[in-house]
Amino acid sequence: MVPEGAPVLDLACGGGRHTRLFAGAGHPVTAVDIDLSRLGDLADDPRVEPVQADLEGGEPFPLPGRTFGGVVVTNYLHRPLLEDLVAALAPGGVFIYETFAEGNEALGGRVTNPDFLLRHGELLELARGRLRVVAYEDVVLEEPKPAAVQRICAVRTR
Ligand SMILES: C[S@@+](CC[C@H](N)C(=O)[O-])C[C@H]1O[C@@H](n2cnc3c(N)ncnc32)[C@H](O)[C@@H]1O
Repeated sequence: MVPEGAPVLDLACGGGRHTRLFAGAGHPVTAVDIDLSRLGDLADDPRVEPVQADLEGGEPFPLPGRTFGGVVVTNYLHRPLLEDLVAALAPGGVFIYETFAEGNEALGGRVTNPDFLLRHGELLELARGRLRVVAYEDVVLEEPKPAAVQRICAVRTR
């Protein structure tokens, strides 16, 4: 659904599995993380713009005014960034977010701090009135190990 050739933001990209996916699909990708060391060969890929930034250090969002046809965030949550991420969507841009959610603390998983767990419906609230929700789940996954997650795919309508 990401418009063909449109730039993509992979926030908290880690080892860059989604950076690689989107770059391979013909999108220039801005890959942001506090630690870019795990990007490997992607760090030198001409399709990839690596941006080293501490997203929780109290500094302004590192990509002011930039917009993307796709914003992807997985397994990362820092609530103060959520509005910046919606603002970083170009009209027609696709918001893809998946991370751990409340309930995970009861499943024996590693992520238990409520600051890092989405509240039920939280991604839907973020989308309300401005993003068209294409898919949303608030589920417990059994594989690879039990985890409570929420995930959304939504398109910026205005
Ligand atoms: C669990 S990994 C997820 C990586 C990737 N999104 C994925 O799903 O494969 C979380 C990522 O958040 C990054 N991170 C944690 N704190 C950060 C911060 N303050 N600023 C920027 N990135 C941060 C870590 O370096 C790590 O790469």
